[in-house]
Amino acid sequence: MEINLLHIYIFSSLIFLLRMELSLAADTITPETFIRDGEKLVSSSQRFELGFFSPRNSKNRYLGVWYKKIPDTVVWVANRNSPIFNPNTALTFSNNGNLVLLSQRNGIIWSSNMSRKAENPIAQLLDTGNLVIRDNSSGHTTESYLWQSFDYPTDSLLEGMKLGWDLKNGLERYLSSWESTDDPSPGNFTFRLVIQVIPKLCAYNGSVEYTCTGPWNGVAFGAAPTYTSFLYEQVLVQSKDEISFWYESYN
Ligand SMILES: *[C@@H]1O[C@H](CO)[C@@H](O)[C@H](O)[C@H]1NC(C)=O
Ligand SMILES: *[C@@H]1O[C@H](CO)[C@@H](O)[C@H](O)[C@H]1NC(C)=O
Ligand SMILES: *[C@@H]1O[C@H](CO)[C@@H](O)[C@H](O)[C@H]1NC(C)=O
Ligand SMILES: *[C@@H]1O[C@H](CO)[C@@H](O)[C@H](O)[C@H]1NC(C)=O
Repeated sequence: MEINLLHIYIFSSLIFLLRMELSLAADTITPETFIRDGEKLVSSSQRFELGFFSPRNSKNRYLGVWYKKIPDTVVWVANRNSPIFNPNTALTFSNNGNLVLLSQRNGIIWSSNMSRKAENPIAQLLDTGNLVIRDNSSGHTTESYLWQSFDYPTDSLLEGMKLGWDLKNGLERYLSSWESTDDPSPGNFTFRLVIQVIPKLCAYNGSVEYTCTGPWNGVAFGAAPTYTSFLYEQVLVQSKDEISFWYESYN
């Protein structure tokens, strides 16, 4: 009942909204704006786009982030478990301050599910490919995110994105393969930071270890040819708040 009322409310307001703000700040969604299928957010340096897409041979629609120059390279999928079947779907803020995919027929298809409520939430697609939600009320620093897509990786580890544990929230961030090229729902393969005496990175097929790097040697993981250490600095942090691995460019 609540969801129905909410989505009737939002859809009837959408019809009357002028969407001027979107053209002024095309990397941002506020409670007054939304994007529909066919519309996009573009990060400030035009590196990443967020919008609706269908995988190769599928008609299902998903909300995702991809490189603007290589749109086939989808690096993040929001609703990977709940495809959109109804073209009348928008990405917007719900009354409780969550970013939601709202379908006219099916109500809320996907939600950022934040526990904390923001007074003035805004969602922004950053040039790193990270979709972040922060509170734009005065007194809130831009760096403290209420939610970020980097905490919910799909199958791509972008620069600056962390693998491992956020110990404050008990959240493990790991990659999981698409089920198939036509279906972004989680497949059998995962890629995780493993802490057994000395950390290493491992790929699993279901619960079976598939392949691992050598252990962390203080600078890099041993025998990990996929990490081009001359291009990127590899970082491993073990503190009371997190056990994380990420990579970033030198400079
Ligand atoms: C959000 O929470 C609902 C209810 O707990 C759950 O069914 C849904 O899967 C969650 N969505 C995401 C994207 O985590
Ligand atoms: C964020 O807040 C500032 C100051 O109130 C305002 O100027 C700016 O337009 C807001 N940004 C968005 C995207 O609403
Ligand atoms: C995933 O694993 C299940 C059972 O463990 C298996 O039946 C299925 O074929 C696997 N899928 C792929 C794409 O390998
Ligand atoms: C992964 O495991 C499944 C069984 O669970 C197996 O059928 C499949 O061949 C395995 N995939 C690879 C690439 O080893």
